[in-house]
Amino acid sequence: MTIIVTGGAGFIGGNFIYYQLKHYPQDRIVCLDSLTYAGNLKTLEGAMKSDHFCFVKCDVADREAVFALFEEEKPDIVVNFAAESHVDRSVENPEIFLKTNIMGTQVLMDACRKYGILRFHQVGTDEVYGDLPLDRPDLFFSEDSPLHTSSPYSASKAAADLLVLAYSRTFGLPVSITRCSNNYGPYHFPEKLIPLIITRALADESLPVYGTGENIRDWLYVEDHCSAIDLVMRKGREGEVYNIGAHNERNNLQVVKTILSALGKPESLIRFVKDRPGHDRRYAIDPTKIQNELGWEAQTDFDTGIRKTVQWYLDHQSWWKEILAGDYRDYYAQMYANR
Ligand code: NAD
Ligand code: TYD
Repeated sequence: MTIIVTGGAGFIGGNFIYYQLKHYPQDRIVCLDSLTYAGNLKTLEGAMKSDHFCFVKCDVADREAVFALFEEEKPDIVVNFAAESHVDRSVENPEIFLKTNIMGTQVLMDACRKYGILRFHQVGTDEVYGDLPLDRPDLFFSEDSPLHTSSPYSASKAAADLLVLAYSRTFGLPVSITRCSNNYGPYHFPEKLIPLIITRALADESLPVYGTGENIRDWLYVEDHCSAIDLVMRKGREGEVYNIGAHNERNNLQVVKTILSALGKPESLIRFVKDRPGHDRRYAIDPTKIQNELGWEAQTDFDTGIRKTVQWYLDHQSWWKEILAGDYRDYYAQMYANR
C-alpha cells in the first residue's frame, strides 16, 4: 500500500508518519509538504532513514505538481494534514488559509478522482463547530452539531470539510473526515500554547495568557489522534465524519500552571495579555461515535501526556532552539508587541 501524507513535516503529520512506519512497516509513505514556516525537515530525520519513506517538496495547491506526483506514485490512500493551522496568523492574514486549506484540498481530491483512490482522508478540526458557553459543561460537539465558525482558520477548515462531503456525494469519491480537539505532544511548533509555555518557561520568560485564561480546550495527546485517524482511514465508513476527543478539558490557566509545576517554575512568570479577537470560549468533543463504531479510545490522560511532552522538550532542545533562533523571533516580537 502507498500512502501520501500531506503536511507531514508539521506537528501532527510528522507524528502520524512515525506511527505508520512503526505499525505498518510494509507500507510506503510519501510525505508531500511545501515546508512553510511550520514545516521542518528535522522532524522527519528519523523517517528519512527508512527505505519505505520519501519526502517530496510540493504545494498542495500546485495542481500540476500534485498531479505529476499522483501519476508517479498511484497512492492507495491520501491523508491530508497540510494546512495553515494557527488561528492568530489567520487573524493577521486570512488569504493563505483559503488557498491552502480550501483550494489545496480541492486539488488533492481532483487528483484522487483522476488517478483513483481507496480513501481520501481529511484531517479536520472541532473548531468548525464554533464554541460552547463556559457555564454549560453538559454541552459537547457531536458530528451533527451545526458548523458555526469564528476565525478565518476555522471557516477555511469548514469550507474544506463541506467540499470533501460534496466530492463524496457528487462524484462518489471515497472520503472520510475526522474532527479533532487540540493536540499536544512532540514536534509541536512553539507558537501554539503548550510548546510556547514550555519553551518560554524554561528560559524564565513571561508567559502570555490571553484574556483571563478561562477559555477551555479539550486536549488530546497526539499519538492518540494518530491512532484514531489510522482507524478511520482504514476501517471507518465512507462519507462519514468522526469526532475525536478524550474528555480532557482544561482552561488555559490550568494548563499553564500544570506545565509550571512539572518544570518547577514559579507562577509569577504568568502575564495576562490582551485577548484574541473572536476568541472561542470552550471546545468539548463527544467521541461516542468513533468509540462505538471503531472501538477507539484515547490511551493517554492529560497529566501523563503533559509529563511526556515536557520531557520531550527537555530532551530535544536543539529541535526547538533552532526554530526560536530563526524567523520565529520576529513573529513573537510582532504578534505580542501590542498585547
Ligand atoms: P502544522 O502547522 O504544525 O503543520 C502543517 C504542515 O503543513 C507544515 O508541515 C506545513 O509546511 C504544511 N503545509 C502548509 N501549507 C502547505 C501547502 N500549501 N502545501 C503543502 N504543505 C503545506 O499543523 P498541525 O498542528 O500539524 O495540523 C495538521 C492538521 O491537523 C491541520 O489540517 C489542522 O487543521 C488539523 N488539526 C490540528 C489540531 C491541533 O491541535 N494542532 C487539532 C485539530 C485539527
Ligand atoms: P492555540 O494553541 O493557539 O490553539 P487554538 O487557538 O487553535 O485552540 O491556543 C490554545 C488556547 O490558548 C487558546 O484559548 C488561546 C490560548 N493562548 C494563550 O492564552 N496565549 C498564547 O500565547 C497562545 C498562543 C494561545
